[in-house]
Amino acid sequence: MTSSPNRERAIEPLPPALSSMWRLCKLGYRHEPRLMVAAFVLSQLAALPDALLALWLMLLGKGVLEHRPGMVKGAAIGLGVSTAATWFLRTVSTRVQRRFRDRVTIALESHVAQLQASVATIAHQERPEYLDRLSMLRNQVFVLDHMYMSVFSTLGWILRLGITMALLASIHPALMLLSVFAVPTVLTSTWRPAVERYAQERGAQSNRLARHLFNIATTASSGKEVRVIGIGERLITDRRWAWECWYGPVAAARWGSALWHALAWAVFGLAYVGAVVFVSSGLRAPASAVLLVLAAGARLSAYIGATVGEIGFLRGFWMDGSRRLAWLEDYAASVAALGDLAVPTAIHRGIRLEHVSFAYPGTSRVVLDDVSLTLPAGAVVAIVGENGAGKTTLVKLLAKMYEPSSGSIFVDDTPLARVPAAEWRARLAGAFQDFFRFEFRAGHTVGLGDAPRMDDEPAVVAAVDRAGAGDVVARLTSGLDTQLGPTWPSGVELSFGQWQKLALARGFMRDHPLLLVLDEPTAALDAETEHALFERYAAAARATGETASPSSFRTDSRPSAWPISSSCSMGPGSWRSAPTMS
Ligand SMILES: Nc1ncnc2c1ncn2[C@@H]1O[C@H](COP(=O)(O)OP(=O)(O)OP(=O)(O)O)[C@@H](O)[C@H]1O
Ligand SMILES: [Mg+2]
Repeated sequence: MTSSPNRERAIEPLPPALSSMWRLCKLGYRHEPRLMVAAFVLSQLAALPDALLALWLMLLGKGVLEHRPGMVKGAAIGLGVSTAATWFLRTVSTRVQRRFRDRVTIALESHVAQLQASVATIAHQERPEYLDRLSMLRNQVFVLDHMYMSVFSTLGWILRLGITMALLASIHPALMLLSVFAVPTVLTSTWRPAVERYAQERGAQSNRLARHLFNIATTASSGKEVRVIGIGERLITDRRWAWECWYGPVAAARWGSALWHALAWAVFGLAYVGAVVFVSSGLRAPASAVLLVLAAGARLSAYIGATVGEIGFLRGFWMDGSRRLAWLEDYAASVAALGDLAVPTAIHRGIRLEHVSFAYPGTSRVVLDDVSLTLPAGAVVAIVGENGAGKTTLVKLLAKMYEPSSGSIFVDDTPLARVPAAEWRARLAGAFQDFFRFEFRAGHTVGLGDAPRMDDEPAVVAAVDRAGAGDVVARLTSGLDTQLGPTWPSGVELSFGQWQKLALARGFMRDHPLLLVLDEPTAALDAETEHALFERYAAAARATGETASPSSFRTDSRPSAWPISSSCSMGPGSWRSAPTMS
C-alpha cells in the first residue's frame, strides 16, 4: 500500500455529470424502452393528485364557510379521487419501476463487466488510482438503476412544486417568495454529497485496505498462513485502524455539512411561519385562503425537502456512479481505438524488440531498459532472470497488455503497436505465472483457453495431453465433468500443482497460435513433468516452424536438458542491452 513520491497520481478527470447521466438514460432506453417510458409517465401522473390536495382543502373550507353545499360536495369528491388516485398510481408506478429496475440492473452489470474485460490494456486493473475509481464503480453499479427512478422522482417533485407555487400565487404573488427562502436548502443539499464524496474518495485507499485485511482474515486461501504466523489479532487492529482512517474524515465531513444544512432549513421554517402570519394578519384573507397557505406551504416544504433530497442522492451516489461509468466507457473506447493493421497470418522471420524500454504507467522506475532482441520464428526462447528482473513484464508487453514506453516491437515487419489488441491476443496462447483458478467443470476450466471450442471434448483432451495434465483429470471422480472448487456442490479441491497443470492445459487449447507465452509455467510442477512438458512442447514448436515462443522460467529451476535455442540473463531491476538472439 505504499506509494512512491514519483508516482503521478493524476489520471484523467471524470466526465461532466449531466452528459454522463444522459448517457446512462440512453443506455437504459436502449435496453428497456417500453418499461422506461411507462415508468416515467406513471411517476409524473402520480404527482398530480397529491399536489392538488391543497386546492380541494381550500374549496372545502370555502364551501363550508359560505354555506355552498355544491362546492363542499365537489371538494369532497376531489379529495376522495385524489387520495384514491395517489394510492393507485403509486402502487402501479412502484410495480412498473421495480420491473424496470430489475431488468436494467442486469443490463448495467453486464455492461460494466464487458467494458472492464474489453479494455485492451490492464493498467486499470493494476494502478491504484484506477483501482480506487473502479472499486467505487463496482459498488455503485448494483444501485445505478436507482438513478432512473431518482431522475423521474425529481421531475415528479418539481411538477408538484410548480402546482403548489401556482396555488400560493393565486392567494398573493408575494407568497412565491417562500420558494426563495428554500434556495439555501437546495444549495446545501447539492453541495453536501459532493463534499462527502470527496472525503470518501480521498480515503478510498484506506477503505480498500480495510476490506483487503478483512478478506485476508476471513478467506480460506489466506487462512493457513494467518494461523501459522499468528497475525489474526494484528489483522483485526490494522483493519480497525484502516477503517478509522477512512471513516474519520468522512464522518467529520458529514457533521460539518449537516450543520449548514440544518441552518438552511431553519431559514425556510421562519419564512413559512412568516407567510402564514402575512396571509392571516397582513392580508386579512378569508380562512379558506389561510387554509390553502397552511396546506400548500406545508406541502411546499415537504416537496422542496423531497426534491433537494432526491437531487442530493442524484448528485451523490448516482450521478457519481454514472460519471464513473461514462469514464469507463470513454477509457475502454480510447484504449481500443488503437490498431489499424491486420495481424499477420504467419510469422516468417520472428518477433523483434528494438530498443524497448518500459516503466509501469504512473511510476518512474524503468523495468525494461533499452532491450533489443529477436525471437526467431519456430524457436523456443527461455528468458531467464532473477525475481523482479522483468520477465513477466516482457510477457505482458508481448501480449499487448501494455505498450512500451519507448522503442518498438515488430512481428516480422508489422509494428505490434498498430495491431488491434483483441485480434493479436486471439492468435496468442499461453499460461501466466499468476494464473486464475476458474472454478467450473474441469472440461470448461481447460476449454476456456479457446472459448469457441470450450465444449469440444477431443480438443480439450488434446490440450490436457499437451500439458501433461492427464493424471489430474484421471483422478477426478467424473473426469472432465467434475466440478472444481470445494465451495460448489460436489466440487473438489485441487493441489496448487494440479491447478497449474490445468492452467497450462488451458494455455494449450489453441491449436496454431502465432506465439505461445509460458510465464513460469512449471513453478509448481514436479521435475519429471516439467522436463517431459518442455521436451514435447519444443518439438511441437520446431515442427510447426511458425511459432516464436518466448518462455520465462526462474533461473534456479531450469533443467539443463531443456531444448532452449537461445536465452539471455537479466539482472534485477533493469535489462540493459540484452544480446540480440538469432
Ligand atoms: N503492475 C505493476 N506496477 C508497477 N510495477 C510493477 C508492476 N508489476 C511489476 N512491477 C515491477 O516491475 C519489476 C519487474 O516485475 P516482473 O513481474 O516483470 O518480474 P519477474 O522477472 O517476472 O519476477 P518473478 O521472477 O518474481 O516472476 C518489479 O520490480 C516489479 O516491482
Ligand atoms: Mg514473473
